[in-house]
Amino acid sequence: MTDPLCLDDASDIRKRFWAIADDVTYLNHGSFGPTPLPVQEAQRQWSQRLASNPMNGFVRELDVEVERAKARLAAFLKCSPTDLLFIENATTAMNVVAASFELKPGDEVLFNDHEYGAVRRIWERACQAAGAKLVTATLRPFHEPGDVIEPLLEAVTPRTRLAILSHVTSATATVFPIRALIAALAEREIPVVVDGPHAIAMQDFSLGELGSAFYCASLHKWLCAPLGTGFLHVAPAWQSKIRAPMLSWGRPIAGRDASWQDELRWQGTRDPSRYLAVTAAIELMESFGLEHFRQRGFSLALEARAMLEDLLKTKATAPADLAWSGTMVAVPLPPGNIPSAADADPVQMGLWNEARIEAPVMVWNGIRHLRVSCHLYNDRQDLRLLESTLKSLRGRCW
Ligand SMILES: Cc1ncc(COP(=O)(O)O)c(C=O)c1O
Repeated sequence: MTDPLCLDDASDIRKRFWAIADDVTYLNHGSFGPTPLPVQEAQRQWSQRLASNPMNGFVRELDVEVERAKARLAAFLKCSPTDLLFIENATTAMNVVAASFELKPGDEVLFNDHEYGAVRRIWERACQAAGAKLVTATLRPFHEPGDVIEPLLEAVTPRTRLAILSHVTSATATVFPIRALIAALAEREIPVVVDGPHAIAMQDFSLGELGSAFYCASLHKWLCAPLGTGFLHVAPAWQSKIRAPMLSWGRPIAGRDASWQDELRWQGTRDPSRYLAVTAAIELMESFGLEHFRQRGFSLALEARAMLEDLLKTKATAPADLAWSGTMVAVPLPPGNIPSAADADPVQMGLWNEARIEAPVMVWNGIRHLRVSCHLYNDRQDLRLLESTLKSLRGRCW
């Protein structure tokens, strides 16, 4: 049988480009992506160059290089580099937005029941501090874009000031109809903050044309950049509002005009090598072929979904087509006790203890979901091992 997407065996690519331990089946790229070897090497070289003369690095050289790396990222994301800022991760970017967006008593921030828990905490605190309210829309089971759009619009009131939306959700691994959502909210003059760490490389889109007011992302997920790399994209109309929650010098770097980014670009002395290695990650993913990566990951995730739905007798939340699904899938586990800590989940622990499989179990809406991520180093052998291990856990863990 032909295997044009090489789904059967990824051992060669895994060995050549990743340093994942031999005995580990890694199905959790969605949480913590292992950094590929060429990206590690690029970061090491930048770090070494900095160590050879930090004064030269910080004062003369690396600022220019970071701008170059950012311009490369902007080209990849299809947006203007002047709207884009390297930042540590999606969490930091979201905190900057929450610290900058002016909320008044009685204002409402529109949320929904598929958002990431840490993002909820960020906006709960921002709303509490301002006397504002976080309004959570309950979305309908997903069949068509209206199942996301309509419940959100129904929750809009004259006091709604901002909406927070995932591009791809975490626990339910669902691709939201983000363009249509932003457009529908724009008609009501509601700006959108997109929480987008899973979308980068997984989704083909033009950030400059998306219409979001703010876009927060991590690059250490599907793009495979070093841990601790992400970005904040701010539409020009909102740039003057941005305030750094943590202050340092806050002035323009020599020779450059003042910009909304100045306070955030220099946050005390840090090693910029991880940002400089983002270029290596983009080049690596482009050398594999982004369309190949997306198609292959989607196809493998579809196979994972079919196997899990059959075994667990449940249905994934996201419909099985490209509009709703990408390179990961989350399938509900049959009802069972919800453990107090995620790493105590008996299925997650059983997969690790019995077969060295890393796949997270996440609780969404009171139901445990097993999430499987499919990057280029994953293959059908991983899915077969997952299937046989789950079969051996059946009866003990659910
Ligand atoms: C939807 C979503 N938003 C935000 C985050 C936070 O990303 P980070 O930990 O890289 O800041 C995650 C992490 O998994 C996520 O899945």
